[in-house]
Amino acid sequence: MGDHAPGQASDRIPGREPGARSFAPDGRGREGSAGGTAVQQAVLLVGGHGTRLRPLTYLLPKALIPVANLPLIAYEIIPLVRAGVGQIIFAVGYKADLLRRELGDGSAWGAEFVYVEESSPLGTAGAIRNVGGRIDGPFFVLNGDIIYDVDLGALAADHVERKALVTFCLRQTDEIGQFGLIQWHDDGRVHEFSEKVRHDPTGRNTVNSGFYVMSPEILDHIPADQPYSSERELFPALLSAGCRLFAHLPQDQGYWADVGRLDSYLQASGDVLDGVLRWYQPPRDGDIAPEAAVASSVSVARGARIGPRARLGPRVAVGASAVVSEGACVTNSIIWPGSEIGPDARVSDAIVAGATVAAGRVITSEVIVG
Ligand code: GTP
Repeated sequence: MGDHAPGQASDRIPGREPGARSFAPDGRGREGSAGGTAVQQAVLLVGGHGTRLRPLTYLLPKALIPVANLPLIAYEIIPLVRAGVGQIIFAVGYKADLLRRELGDGSAWGAEFVYVEESSPLGTAGAIRNVGGRIDGPFFVLNGDIIYDVDLGALAADHVERKALVTFCLRQTDEIGQFGLIQWHDDGRVHEFSEKVRHDPTGRNTVNSGFYVMSPEILDHIPADQPYSSERELFPALLSAGCRLFAHLPQDQGYWADVGRLDSYLQASGDVLDGVLRWYQPPRDGDIAPEAAVASSVSVARGARIGPRARLGPRVAVGASAVVSEGACVTNSIIWPGSEIGPDARVSDAIVAGATVAAGRVITSEVIVG
């Protein structure tokens, strides 16, 4: 694991450095718009092993992997806090201690953070049941690996107004085959879930995004202390029982990414660097030599060093204390904190996670861990 053992990596995770994020960490950035606020709590599911992101998730839980110099989970936390959510409950399992240590009690983020740990994975519904003792009203639920740009106030208001048990915040996509298709009547009532179908007869192409609002009564529908899946077990059972399940299709669908695989991680990083999110401007700090050529879609974290004649971009994130040496060229890549790119090395479409790339070496479409 080289110099990027979790204990050390934790000091370098972006988003913890002062000034590394552009929202008010004490909560002053709140907009208070989550239905004023009809929904005060959120449950973030962050207990999975993130196997598709290995080897990166051997080093960090998926929620903490850096995206444009913020930990992935920050892309969920920040909009929730800005919308007025006061308490975020993390359903943790894999690398729970690291998550707890990095995110803290929430005071730096403007909300109260609570951690509920599973001794063995309870699945996406079992994890919700497991935090049930903390729930005291309708709550947002998010898979911990999405980047979204949604009006949370409209979503919350829809849920409350319809007296729904579950409101699905839908995403529209042409690639429905990769997701669970959700079909609904014109009044929003959900009437069918279909997994991995290629064609939606209604033409709506709305899929489950892993983002919901739930009412506390949902807890009565999930068995305690055993693995239970929302997608495969809970939702079909609720539908059969005639429960009030509603679809919410955001009017002005903004950016959406599901950071589940290495290619989608690289893609989402590049998109955020390109400025797709209105509320986040990735940092351009660090020590950048005047003779370096740095494109606009490049983020350099505080403490990183970029040498003379280095060429960076497009779509490159350089983490804290990383070094890009003289004459090196980096394009469409993620350089984690503490990595080192040697002189005249060429790195493209790659993820360098705390590793050293030797002088003159050429790296293309690779993941290198330290
Ligand atoms: P893969 O192993 O690559 O599929 O990744 P994953 O472990 O993240 O699984 P998946 O993408 O299906 O999970 C979606 C979200 O639910 C992620 O944020 C996971 O952390 C979370 N999750 C999945 N299973 C559990 C679980 O058993 N408990 C908790 N607390 N969270 C879970």
